[in-house]
Amino acid sequence: MLITFEGIDGCGKSTQIDLLKKYLDTVKAGYSVLREPGGTEISEKIRSLLLHDSGDMDPVTELLLFSAARSQLIREKVIPLLNENKIVILDRFFDSTTAYQGYGRKSADLESIFTLNRMASHQVTPRLTFYLRITPEMAARRTQNSQKDRMERSGIDFFKRVVEGYDELAKKEDRFLTIDATNHPQAIHRQIIGLIGDLQQYQGQVSASKKEPEE
Ligand code: TYD
Repeated sequence: MLITFEGIDGCGKSTQIDLLKKYLDTVKAGYSVLREPGGTEISEKIRSLLLHDSGDMDPVTELLLFSAARSQLIREKVIPLLNENKIVILDRFFDSTTAYQGYGRKSADLESIFTLNRMASHQVTPRLTFYLRITPEMAARRTQNSQKDRMERSGIDFFKRVVEGYDELAKKEDRFLTIDATNHPQAIHRQIIGLIGDLQQYQGQVSASKKEPEE
């Protein structure tokens, strides 16, 4: 089962993923956490080009590099883990490309972005996407003292468009669960494990009802 986390920089994604890891350890669930861009040797090299290169990057180059990093990660790590029935938690996935490159950067029209997303994800789609929603103003206040990477230096208007992109996806996609990221981290965590628990219960019922009767 693939679960993804999305939201703008400063939304508290990393904190929530850490809390979820601790929870999954206590219930002894088999899981892996991977991040985008990154998670494989090739994808980590692309990440460093994308986030730490100080040169002027063309928006289409940026779009293609995020997609290239994704393709490698999905083929090399995510598909094999899903085939072993593991829970895979991805810190960002193709919704980041839609929101950041599609709406934020306007690197290409949305149809082209969706086509590229399908190609780079090898048809893998999340079962659940937690969207930690926060305003760009609040995110900027939270991150004002931290060192910013190339994407984080994109400015408030860019992040307003990114939030607009996520909000559109949340309206369209049933797998999107929007969470008010201004709440207390522990309250958000309880909400997240409640939603994952509901899903596992539902899946348990589905697989039980699918079993062929024994002869
Ligand atoms: P992030 O998860 O924020 O890393 P960190 O917590 O270490 O800063 O991701 C890196 C940045 O890359 C973030 O600003 C979002 C951006 N990004 C895109 O613009 N498009 C994409 O497709 C992905 C996966 C990330």
